Amino acid sequence: MIIAGSDALILIGATSLVCYHFLNRRWKIRSGGFPLPPGPQRRLLVRNLFDLPVFEPWKRFAFWSEEYGDLVYLRTFGTGILALNSIEAVNELFEKRSQVYSDRPTFVMAGELIGFDQTLAFAHYGTSWRQQRKLAHSALNSEAVKKYHQLQEHVVALYLESLVSDPTGYASAIHLQYLDDMVKMMDLVTEYFRPGAFLVDLIPQLKHLPTWLPFNNIHQIAAAGRELLLRVVDRPFLHVKRQFEEGTAPPSYVAHCLEQHSTGDAGDDMDYYIRWSANTMYGAGAETTYGTIITFIYIMALYPDVQAKGIEEIHRVVGLDRLPTLGDRDQLPYVNAIIKELYRYNPVVPLSLPRTNTEDDVYRGCFIPKNTLILPNVWAISRDQDSGIPPEDFVPERFMPSHVKQTATDPLTYTFGFGRRLCPGRFLGDNSVFLFISGLLAAFDITQKRDENGGSVPMDVQFVPGMVSYPQPFPVDIVPRSHHIVAAVKSRAAAQ
Ligand code: HEM
Repeated sequence: MIIAGSDALILIGATSLVCYHFLNRRWKIRSGGFPLPPGPQRRLLVRNLFDLPVFEPWKRFAFWSEEYGDLVYLRTFGTGILALNSIEAVNELFEKRSQVYSDRPTFVMAGELIGFDQTLAFAHYGTSWRQQRKLAHSALNSEAVKKYHQLQEHVVALYLESLVSDPTGYASAIHLQYLDDMVKMMDLVTEYFRPGAFLVDLIPQLKHLPTWLPFNNIHQIAAAGRELLLRVVDRPFLHVKRQFEEGTAPPSYVAHCLEQHSTGDAGDDMDYYIRWSANTMYGAGAETTYGTIITFIYIMALYPDVQAKGIEEIHRVVGLDRLPTLGDRDQLPYVNAIIKELYRYNPVVPLSLPRTNTEDDVYRGCFIPKNTLILPNVWAISRDQDSGIPPEDFVPERFMPSHVKQTATDPLTYTFGFGRRLCPGRFLGDNSVFLFISGLLAAFDITQKRDENGGSVPMDVQFVPGMVSYPQPFPVDIVPRSHHIVAAVKSRAAAQ
């Protein structure tokens, strides 16, 4: 049978209409007739692909939320992206509906091709995640972290001592620079896990393109990342395991886990869970703690009056001859308010870590298709106006019932994440933050640099791009306050 041109056109048109009708019907049945959440207008073909900004997307989501409300939805080729801009929305989905909303999305490049989806932080919600999470909980719960107090106090004293001799190294001295590969790995994490970092994340089918195709560097990037990741996962683990078998391992997360499970029968599986969760501990803990301390130094140079109140409290409660310890924490309400304000003012992980839903769902009359990439906008949540103090000012008093009628939302309800994926390192991390901050207040004056005329040199701070947010190193003066306190720092650093 021969079909004439016009007949062929009619046939194609009719088939397309039938397909459209069929898909539309299926979508209507699937969504129950509920619309997708609101969001910026989608363009033909590219949809919202170019709407998502690379730099500080949390601010753009917050801006859109003024027009569209708490839920803001973007659509790229295969993926829907949903930002949750209020604590109510986050609590409803991540806490009350945690059975559906505790998974991490598939990042094709960073997760699937490089292998970060084996780590605790990016593992899918399943057996491996559960096993690693149990290990993390046993080593880092509020009781277990007490055995690290002395070690943390000592590490902070070493840091403060390094500032006495080289205050310009205030940023590099926090990072464990000798773990060069780890630092490279973290750079890679912050860059590669940005939503839309690679086209292959948005169009997963691209991963099947042959490697010989010109301009296709997907597999080259993946191979280099995979090699680095395996190196940083295996080397430190095997080192501690050898020490553990020889009976010479000092206390550490890996040694703790090996000890707890040396008599179990999980064997190779347990080794796998320990090595991948241990790697996450460094990755998830180092960058966040570092970013928080760097932000603190920046803020202190900008807000001398806040610094002066913190110093006054430490002098009054702790005295002038020693560094604060975790045992002093309860007696330092103003310092604790500074820490809360720091978590609020510039949340170090402003979109937290992304989630996905394992089932279709309906919330506030909107359809949320399965596998949507969901971003809790912690930055937007932290802008709350409850205390009446403008959110853009750094004012610790907003958390003090003695100063405001209603205190601001406690950042501990959002800074460390939510529900079943809540940060397991929060007790350890928060203790480190307290020790760094109270130690810096006890021992140093932090001020903006002065030029020859006595005017302050603008700090001109650039914030790092990516999924974390903190200032890149900036010019600042960090000067020990007295010989007395320098002696106290040195003596604490010398003690074990
Ligand atoms: C100031 C310090 C820290 C901040 C602000 C912070 C923040 C966060 C946030 C926002 C998440 C995502 C939670 C979610 O998806 O709901 C997270 C996850 C995680 N954090 Fe932290 N964190 C800090 C310190 C630490 C430390 C010190 C460790 C380890 C020793 C750690 C280990 C982890 C791990 C393993 C996860 C992944 C949990 C999972 O996916 O189940 N964090 N953290």
